[in-house]
Amino acid sequence: MPDWGWPAVIAHRCGGALAPENTLAGLGIAARLGCRAVEFDVMLSRDSVPVLIHDETLDRTAARSGHVARLAAEELLATDVGRCFHSAFAGESIPSLQLALDACRRLGLAVNVEIKPATGCEVDTGRVVGCVLKEMQPALRPQILLSSFSADALAAAAAEVPDVPRGLLVDRFSPQALLTAGRLDCVSLNLGRKHLDAAQILAARDAGFKVLVYTVNALPEARQLAAWGVAGVFSDRPDLLLPG
Ligand code: G3P
Ligand code: MG
Repeated sequence: MPDWGWPAVIAHRCGGALAPENTLAGLGIAARLGCRAVEFDVMLSRDSVPVLIHDETLDRTAARSGHVARLAAEELLATDVGRCFHSAFAGESIPSLQLALDACRRLGLAVNVEIKPATGCEVDTGRVVGCVLKEMQPALRPQILLSSFSADALAAAAAEVPDVPRGLLVDRFSPQALLTAGRLDCVSLNLGRKHLDAAQILAARDAGFKVLVYTVNALPEARQLAAWGVAGVFSDRPDLLLPG
């Protein structure tokens, strides 16, 4: 188990209610707010370049349509995902994983890299993300936690960078999730907030896992979870949760 310096309030999708999600603009705002950590989602382009995006299509976040896995990196990296959020962010484009990691290190942000494979690309996405991290000099990497809903993606990443800590994402706690997280040698279980209770958090902690919870946008809930022993929460509104 590595040292757990993982901060408690993690800007979800780089703080997706305050800036276009999964963008460099979001990273900058998260850092200015005083966040110590961010989370972003990573998917592969057609030519296997890892880029920051949550959905398998561009439809929700860009002013154009298209499947991420069918578009070349050149097209994705030139896609405006700012204007759909607010005209003030027009021109903000999809960043590559490499660019986002460099920005995190420059800004002093720890990062949870969520491997978000397009369907059928689980192993490839995990492997490529792992390779990007492996090729970075450890001194030039920000502090990283890898996570995924896909056990196959996590295992493939772990084969490349066994030293980078991992968290298994599940939308609901289950005894099976504990077994899978154990098999993958995870340090954390990253759980959806719905249906979560104190007993489940205790069971995860007793099994040796830190618990991170998504997506928490209200201070009373964050305080309740902290009292139950969670190590951190992902939030679209870190400004509401960080100490004033
Ligand atoms: O990693 C926590 C959270 O990001 C998982 O859900 O769908 O927002 O990527 P999602
Ligand atoms: Mg995510």
